[in-house]
Amino acid sequence: MENQNTYNYKVVRQFAVMTVVWGIVGMLVGVIIAAQLVWPALNFDLPWLSYGRLRPLHTNAVIFAFGGSALFATSYYAVQRTCQVRLFSDRLAAFTFWGWTLIILLAAITLPLGLTSGKEYAELEWPIDILIAVVWVSYAVVFFGTIIKRKVPHIYVANWFFGAFIITVAVLHIVNSAALPVGLFKSYSVYSGTIDAMVQWWYGHNAVGFFLTAGFLGIMYYFIPKQVGKPIYSYRLSVVHFWALISTYMWAGPHHLQFTALPEWAQSLGMVFSLILIAPSWGGMINGIMTLSGAWHKLRSDPILKFLIVSLSFYGMSTFEGPMMSIKTVNALSHYTDWTIGHVHSGALGWVGLVTIGAIYFLIPKVFNREAMYSTKLIDTHFWVATIGIVLYIVAMWIAGVMQGLMWRAVNDDGTLTYSFVESLEATYPYYIVRLLGGALFLAGMFIMAYNVWKTIAGSKPADEAIPQTA
Ligand code: HEM
Ligand code: HEM
Repeated sequence: MENQNTYNYKVVRQFAVMTVVWGIVGMLVGVIIAAQLVWPALNFDLPWLSYGRLRPLHTNAVIFAFGGSALFATSYYAVQRTCQVRLFSDRLAAFTFWGWTLIILLAAITLPLGLTSGKEYAELEWPIDILIAVVWVSYAVVFFGTIIKRKVPHIYVANWFFGAFIITVAVLHIVNSAALPVGLFKSYSVYSGTIDAMVQWWYGHNAVGFFLTAGFLGIMYYFIPKQVGKPIYSYRLSVVHFWALISTYMWAGPHHLQFTALPEWAQSLGMVFSLILIAPSWGGMINGIMTLSGAWHKLRSDPILKFLIVSLSFYGMSTFEGPMMSIKTVNALSHYTDWTIGHVHSGALGWVGLVTIGAIYFLIPKVFNREAMYSTKLIDTHFWVATIGIVLYIVAMWIAGVMQGLMWRAVNDDGTLTYSFVESLEATYPYYIVRLLGGALFLAGMFIMAYNVWKTIAGSKPADEAIPQTA
């Protein structure tokens, strides 16, 4: 039993280890579907191995199981350290761990069985949706309860980002999942037609903005200053960053629905707010990177810092690319092509993946009471394998995407299409192979991490078992 006077590290340990496990599972499924796009026969004619069923399994596993566990682990750790109190309730925290794990297992069973509500990133059927709402509200109670009983007057900026992420995800999930059940495994959305599309992409884009961005910015604001050993570059900028980001993201969703039945003004609104989003995004990136000023030399010898800082450069890249893709004339080329997939993974692997990995390497020795990770060299190897993997993945998708867009719109003098769709597919195969290679490298990095984490946990503890109270 852990002493009540110390922090609750048990739940942090559980979520931190599961981040690595779910990372491997989700990315393995990613590699499998990447291979299926090269060799379709790899579905072995089994319905539950078909691309259409494994793809949502991949997205749910990497976003909610890998990303979600990382967010639970890091927010529970940071909120305790910065508020200098133990979590509000150990029991409720344990409930969030087991509840979240159950949800992931239910997703892993129902998605391959083809049970889906058909809404992207919100595929799970209504009984699981209700469980998600219950677990999420419990998470909010634990997190905000801890903030309320804090021993320091100040609420550190990382907690603002974690807090906004927790509240917004609850609202998004509950509104977008509203459905009429017609059986235990089947329901229909209460929205229809264009309204359904708008609600779905209001959800979808804010899932990117709050799940894949605000939460991970919370990680950035706590773990970068900690690893550098200096305060954040500008506290004032972090406050401006927070308010500007959360008030802008909400309006950008329609950029997913350019040239659809959505009213013209809504499409343009989405585009304009996406362009405005460059400012807060880059402000945040600059704040993180500049925290290193005067300590740049640390990047040479500290691979954990490399993960954290390089993640920010991918963040900057994808938050420049996204606004460009929201411009209607650019979207006319990029939409439906692999360019979107390249953009997704420069954000997902480069930003979310790297910042998570860096934070988990920081956390594991702390919460398992070890002096450091088992091998710094292996962290460095992981960094390079992962970075090369990302570059191969996204460059292949950029080239393939632009090529597809150009081939689809090419017309002959007599107005007929120059290329058939199959010709564009054939031209894409070499890039699918490069993407597969890049993805396999990123996955290999996760196995290196798992080995390093395992050796760290299994290794001997330092003489002093006590976990310090101070932040
Ligand atoms: C300023 C920030 C960003 C803007 C304005 C933006 C904009 C866009 C645009 C215009 C699309 C293409 C929509 C389409 O043609 O269907 C898109 C797709 C996407 N973006 Fe971003 N993006 C941003 C940052 C990010 C980041 C940081 C991530 C990941 C961490 C991300 C994840 C995604 C995903 C998952 C999709 C695909 C959605 C789907 O169709 O399933 N975005 N984004
Ligand atoms: C080993 C690493 C990974 C590989 C090989 C991989 C592979 C893939 C493949 C093949 C697709 C389907 C693309 C298509 O339909 O054309 C996909 C989609 C997607 N992946 Fe990954 N992935 C990896 C890691 C990740 C991670 C870590 C995240 C998020 C944190 C992520 C988020 C997504 C999302 C959101 C989509 C849907 C994109 C869209 O609908 O536009 N992936 N991935």
